[in-house]
Amino acid sequence: MASDAARDRGMRLFIDSANLEEIDAALKRGIAGVTTNSSILAREKISADRLLTYMETALYNVPLSIEYELVKPLWKARMVYYDALYVKVPVGWDTLELIRGLRGNDIKVNCTAIMSINQAIMAAGVGAEYVSLFWNRIKDGGEDPLHVVRVTRNLLDESGSKTQIIVGSIRQPTDVAEAFIAGAHAVTAPPAILKQLCEHPKTDEVVAQFQADARGALVDGHKH
Ligand code: E4P
Repeated sequence: MASDAARDRGMRLFIDSANLEEIDAALKRGIAGVTTNSSILAREKISADRLLTYMETALYNVPLSIEYELVKPLWKARMVYYDALYVKVPVGWDTLELIRGLRGNDIKVNCTAIMSINQAIMAAGVGAEYVSLFWNRIKDGGEDPLHVVRVTRNLLDESGSKTQIIVGSIRQPTDVAEAFIAGAHAVTAPPAILKQLCEHPKTDEVVAQFQADARGALVDGHKH
């Protein structure tokens, strides 16, 4: 799909959710990917199998990130044919070998739970397609996520790495703009935040004004 190729570049917004209705609503509005994690799936009481089956049949063909440990049993149980599947593997010394092995088998990896520039360097070094940097958790740890994301992006660009940054752990709309300003390739946000990105009280005000004036504009004022 040409539109998907276009979405592969520039500022891409993903939805961080496992709620099928919310995912469908978001993808219908041009949201370019889906991320989830074990906590979100547990909260929504939905299995990885059901989410993956939905994505396989809904034909949006956008990147979908699910924890490796949840996808692994599915590979054993059935054919998984979702091309844009990224398995999420937490960064760590013990997981680098796993990530390398997955990449060697052409399995796309989203190396997740990244809080530092050094962790992103390690994940990029082993060939992860995505590094997921957790904006507010970085902040909770006393670091500046803007700095972490900016420096990581510069290092990736300067080294010619193909690894891309997804910024997650978004808690408010301003985080999204800041993450893109810092250099995120993609930002994944919960559904409620995605909706808020379109909102502004001054927009409501002026749209109400236009609607009120539209009634007058529909009637010829006889000023010829
Ligand atoms: C991203 O892929 C993660 O699902 C998510 O954004 C984690 O962040 P949080 O648990 O702080 O919301």
